[in-house]
Amino acid sequence: MNVLVTGGTGYIGSHTCIQLIEAGFNPVLLDNLYNSKKAVLERIKRVTGVEPLFIQADVRDKNALINALQANNIEAVIHFAGLKAVGESVEKPLEYYDNNVHGTLVLADAMREAGVTRLIFSSSATVYGDPASVPITESFPTSATNPYGRSKLIVEECLTDFQTANPDWSITLLRYFNPVGSHPSGSLGEDPQGIPNNLMPYVAQVAVGRRECVSVFGDDYPTPDGTGVRDYIHVMDLADGHIAALKHAGSKPGLHVYNLGTGNGYSVLDMIDAFAKASGKPIPYQFVTRRPGDIAECWADPSKAQRELHWQATRNLEEMTRDAWRWQSSNPQGYPED
Ligand code: NAD
Ligand code: WQD
Repeated sequence: MNVLVTGGTGYIGSHTCIQLIEAGFNPVLLDNLYNSKKAVLERIKRVTGVEPLFIQADVRDKNALINALQANNIEAVIHFAGLKAVGESVEKPLEYYDNNVHGTLVLADAMREAGVTRLIFSSSATVYGDPASVPITESFPTSATNPYGRSKLIVEECLTDFQTANPDWSITLLRYFNPVGSHPSGSLGEDPQGIPNNLMPYVAQVAVGRRECVSVFGDDYPTPDGTGVRDYIHVMDLADGHIAALKHAGSKPGLHVYNLGTGNGYSVLDMIDAFAKASGKPIPYQFVTRRPGDIAECWADPSKAQRELHWQATRNLEEMTRDAWRWQSSNPQGYPED
């Protein structure tokens, strides 16, 4: 089956592409390379023996999408393309609504014209806002605390309305918790531009000597050690979740919503400690004030995906940190420039 993967050279997209190839699918990658590099394609080939077809295009370019869908006999689309930095979204809300909301509407419209009716969308646990309790099930109320989160929520609502109007479509909303780690080969991984916003890539850059010290945002949360608790999930498990969604939900008309998380919570100090063990490097850290908008704890109830998609995360914290370190230590500056 030919699958169009928007945002396919990005962090989660590239790992999903590998698992698609390994599972016998034929991914066609589409990306505007705003936050990724072409070098990813050669790395995918190194791991799988297959260099996937790549189309450099923007998801807001409807003609490019229709061409990509028709010329490649695409049967399903996995839509990763978008902007994802929470802080930046507060500074540049229009860019976020344009890429994430408008981009998805253009994609859905192009799919309709091309007669492709199966879509898997990258949503986020951020749509749960500050949850009243944990673990979080898919039926928890949704809300947004920043433009990035609101863009995901708006897209979820638009796609829900669109699916209601087009009941033969299969639309799957996957709410990711905190993806970390990399392909176990160390050939692919997370390569943020500039100062990493997320904890794990920051810790990895401290371990490799690119940065001096991790700032731990808050030590007074109502959690066991006072630092924030999250559901970190190995990116390969997340990638496998997309294959499961394609197989088990993508063939059924309807609107499907799943949490992709492990169901376990780890604190910031747990993560720093695990990374120090995996890398054998000291990870200096200092406590600083809370980051505005952060919540104390967030982890998934992943049982719906387990039941209906026959998927569950299998890789533990040691594998997450071991693989992240393998990528970071063998590619200290990330991917080579194109
Ligand atoms: P990423 O930035 O590595 O990948 C996104 C890719 O989309 C990049 O390669 C970028 O160049 C491309 N892109 C952006 N705007 C585009 C456009 N208009 N047209 C074409 N390509 C465009 O991010 P990621 O971590 O791989 O995230 C993938 C998706 O998953 C995003 O939608 C993100 O919001 C969502 N998500 C990510 C996380 C996370 O923590 N990484 C968590 C939950 C949800
Ligand atoms: C994790 C924990 C921080 C950096 C974000 C988005 C969410 C989703 C995943 C896309 C928190 C602490 C962090 C640092 C720290 N993305 N921290 N020092 O905030 O859970 O989620 O990424 O959809 O929408 O909001 O992830 O990795 O930024 O933070 O102490 O330098 O690490 O306070 O407790 P977060 P994160």
